[in-house]
Amino acid sequence: MAPSTQKAVVVQADGSVVITSVPVPKPGPGQILVKVAAVAQNPVDFKTIAWVKKEGAIVGCDYAGTVEEIGPDVPAGLRTVGERVAGFVFGSYYKNGSCAQYVLAEAAPTVHLPDSWSFEDGSQLGVGPFTAAQLLWEAQQLPTPIQPATTPFPLLISGGASSVGQYAIQFAKLSGLQVFATASPKHFDLVKSLGADEVFDYHDPEVAKKIKAATGGKLKHAVDAISETGTPAIVAAALSDEGGVISATLPYPETRAGVTAIPICAYNMLGKSYDFPFQWEATEEAKALGKRFAEHISKVISLNRLKPNPKVVYPSGLASVQQGLLDGPKISGQKIIFRIADTPDL
Ligand SMILES: NC(=O)c1ccc[n+]([C@@H]2O[C@H](COP(=O)([O-])OP(=O)(O)OC[C@H]3O[C@@H](n4cnc5c(N)ncnc54)[C@H](OP(=O)(O)O)[C@@H]3O)[C@@H](O)[C@H]2O)c1
Repeated sequence: MAPSTQKAVVVQADGSVVITSVPVPKPGPGQILVKVAAVAQNPVDFKTIAWVKKEGAIVGCDYAGTVEEIGPDVPAGLRTVGERVAGFVFGSYYKNGSCAQYVLAEAAPTVHLPDSWSFEDGSQLGVGPFTAAQLLWEAQQLPTPIQPATTPFPLLISGGASSVGQYAIQFAKLSGLQVFATASPKHFDLVKSLGADEVFDYHDPEVAKKIKAATGGKLKHAVDAISETGTPAIVAAALSDEGGVISATLPYPETRAGVTAIPICAYNMLGKSYDFPFQWEATEEAKALGKRFAEHISKVISLNRLKPNPKVVYPSGLASVQQGLLDGPKISGQKIIFRIADTPDL
């Protein structure tokens, strides 16, 4: 039985965060209450806090933990009390976030975490892999590990060392595609170990030309995990002369004739309407995708076919979150993790 109050990391009016006591919520229809064991940080955490400074919001999207309570209307057998799970919520904007002892999560877009995955690694099975799934399988309906390509074709992943990029590379490779990626040279070995066939330095002024040559001018599909700081121009120039399709993590500029960009938003898969960073009305289709992608990710990890991002576990649990948020914009090739049990005086 969950207590009535808990400790959580809460946003203040000036954009700083503080650990404070808040009520433990009750799961509503379709929801579960999760006792959080570990949290993974994402860029959206520090971006949302900086943009909105939503006083009273609880920080954090990604979580791993155990199901404490199951709300009404959760289909029988979908989740069980005590089950190890991972997923994500819309953190830092609502009074529900993963940097807390308990988080309310939607029951369906939730990954079953096998014992072979620690809570620290499992906490990243939220925004990163769900976004990668959306970029590949919703935006472009590319082959999946369950229905792989019968004939391999090239796919470019811009930002191969990013969290989203690392999952996109692995999913694309498991789906039978020929994977080209960009990264800093210090991450070439990491990106290749995840399944990239060839990796290119995005700092090289000739990078687009080199990718175009390596793909024989036949590149028609790209995932841009970065979608800013010059990547749209690189990705568009690497595509075939006829053009192609780019799935993007951020709103994308016009590039050139024949090139279509499809921006996605991971929050859609939670099946709830929201009004930030834009107005979104929930759809049954998006909700169904969240459920389907959770099943795909659960299947892939149950087969031991997915590697988590390299991680750095901060020392003091919730008390380290403020430092993590400050360090987040400088992170390179790693995921920042907080273990709730490391929080002093909990
Ligand atoms: N729309 C959505 O729903 C959604 C969901 C998730 C993420 N996002 C957004 O997607 C972006 C990536 O998120 P993330 O969590 O994957 O980020 P992340 O792990 O924090 O990304 C850091 C990595 O980005 C790489 N990088 C930076 N600039 C690059 C460039 N110009 N070309 C190639 N790689 C570059 C760096 O690679 P090197 O170390 O190799 O230099 C670095 O390791 C963020 O802007 C995030 O806000 C959006």
